[in-house]
Amino acid sequence: MKLYLDTANVEEIKTAASWGVICGITTNPSLAAKETENFNKILTSICNEVDGPISAEVTSMDYEGMVREARELAGVHKNVVVKIPVMPEGLRAVKTISAEGIRVNVTLVFSVNQALLAALAGASFVSPFLGRLDDIGHTGVELVRDIVDMIDLHDLDCQVIAASIRHPEHVPRVALAGAHIATVPFKVLEQMFKHPLTDIGIEKFLSDWKKKQGK
Ligand code: G3P
Repeated sequence: MKLYLDTANVEEIKTAASWGVICGITTNPSLAAKETENFNKILTSICNEVDGPISAEVTSMDYEGMVREARELAGVHKNVVVKIPVMPEGLRAVKTISAEGIRVNVTLVFSVNQALLAALAGASFVSPFLGRLDDIGHTGVELVRDIVDMIDLHDLDCQVIAASIRHPEHVPRVALAGAHIATVPFKVLEQMFKHPLTDIGIEKFLSDWKKKQGK
């Protein structure tokens, strides 16, 4: 499973990229709204930091607007993947722009049916939002597993991005559920490094080494 970072914050992206573990970025309008700079400028900076798929979302809700925005976003950099919500006008736009060679990440997916429709329309990625399902008392990881199984069973050309990840334990769970990619907030990526036994182990190694040196 690959890891993407779910943020529009360029400083977080630079730091995470320096750790060598992420190979793509996802953003959404809420994440972009937290930043002060113009989004196209941010998108260009992100593309300069990470050489992998960079998802940027349309905000139009009609077919013509989505297609226009998708072409503009894709024109920013070859690595831009256009994010489109799963809805009839959206999937119509997916069909048009994927036929032009623009990759699409269909977002706000909460059911296997929605994932199937997205894949059939030509989406390269589908993003089930597991945290938001957990929020309403469902089990988001089960949805990820079902979508992966459905894609594998029918040999569909679409990758599953486990999104709306809220805590580090979500990551191994979606990895074992077969997600191709997990997109994680910066805080979760930091938490993934942590284990108290690692800290205790480092401290012990260093103190033993210093004793041997007579320090
Ligand atoms: O990738 C989608 C993600 O940004 C949504 O996360 O925590 O707002 O549900 P959240």
